[in-house]
Amino acid sequence: MTEKRLEGRGAIVTGGALGIGGGTARKLAADGAKVLIVDVQSEAAEANAQRIKDAGGAAVAMTGDVSDESVSKAMVERAMDEFGRLDILVQNAYGGGADNAGSAIEVKPEAWRSGIDLLVTALYLGAKYAVPAMDESGAAPGFDAGPWTGAGLRHGNPPKMNVGRIVNISSVHGLLQAPRSLVYEAGKAAVIGLTRQMAVDFGPLGVTVNAIAPGHIVTERGEAMWSELGDEAGFKLFELQYPVRRTGVPDDIAAGIAFLCTDDASFITGVVLPIDGGLSIQLQENIVMDVKDFITENPELKTHFDQGRGTARR
Ligand SMILES: NC(=O)c1ccc[n+]([C@@H]2O[C@H](COP(=O)([O-])OP(=O)(O)OC[C@H]3O[C@@H](n4cnc5c(N)ncnc54)[C@H](O)[C@@H]3O)[C@@H](O)[C@H]2O)c1
Repeated sequence: MTEKRLEGRGAIVTGGALGIGGGTARKLAADGAKVLIVDVQSEAAEANAQRIKDAGGAAVAMTGDVSDESVSKAMVERAMDEFGRLDILVQNAYGGGADNAGSAIEVKPEAWRSGIDLLVTALYLGAKYAVPAMDESGAAPGFDAGPWTGAGLRHGNPPKMNVGRIVNISSVHGLLQAPRSLVYEAGKAAVIGLTRQMAVDFGPLGVTVNAIAPGHIVTERGEAMWSELGDEAGFKLFELQYPVRRTGVPDDIAAGIAFLCTDDASFITGVVLPIDGGLSIQLQENIVMDVKDFITENPELKTHFDQGRGTARR
């Protein structure tokens, strides 16, 4: 039997109960990693861990809010206790509050602080405790640096490689701004800066740090939202804005994250990988014309913006 590409590696996935994190926990486990799911939703986290075990993988669940420093510290200790090592940290958890919406004039200081605590501070805290544990764990199991050949000009000891992987979840909202979304947009943009900084700081330790910028991903929560809305045309309008003519699913993001965690990705660090079906590379003028035609044909369509969610200017 061929060895799985993440066999024996210890991984933490924050917000790993549901959605993108849920799919990521399952994908890393399917690739051979042992996964600690950290989530505020205990039952859903346990259920996802059980689903992984039922499929022959290894997973444990832990309850906790990752914006709390004691939880960041405890999750790393738990992974080291459970797996004897830590190789992978996927920083994905988010649960947006309605009070996060608005411009700087509207957002209350408490909402700013708690939003940024989860969007940004939690990622700093995760790395603060995870990187020393990765360093202590050493190169990932199964990785053989072999004789250092480099480009033929190299000599001396090989640099540290494949010691750790951090993948931070940003968003297309970290690349492009939506109106009246100060907390989320500023937070997701900060995730990109934090990722690049960490890539520079931890590269010499053999730890790569990358960010993913997902487009619209239909998770369990997203599916409930769209079916509550019950508007097929509204969803089609969303899909129309994607060059690939579909929105994403958690597995699309999980596949990118898992790749960044493999040995094949050891020279990739500090990048922001949009996984968005091309949403963020299109010239907006052209989209507007497609959308105009669609709206003319479907004048009654509704999207989640019609439910008071989101970022309408009015
Ligand atoms: N779904 C999308 O369209 C989309 C697009 C771009 C970026 N993202 C980002 O992807 C990540 C996951 O989003 P999702 O759509 O899968 O969300 P989701 O709500 O489906 O899942 C988020 C998970 O995080 C958990 N969680 C929330 N707050 C937590 C906390 N303080 N500590 C620990 N766990 C916590 C939730 O319980 C849940 O299991 C988020 O960072 C989000 O901003 C999502």
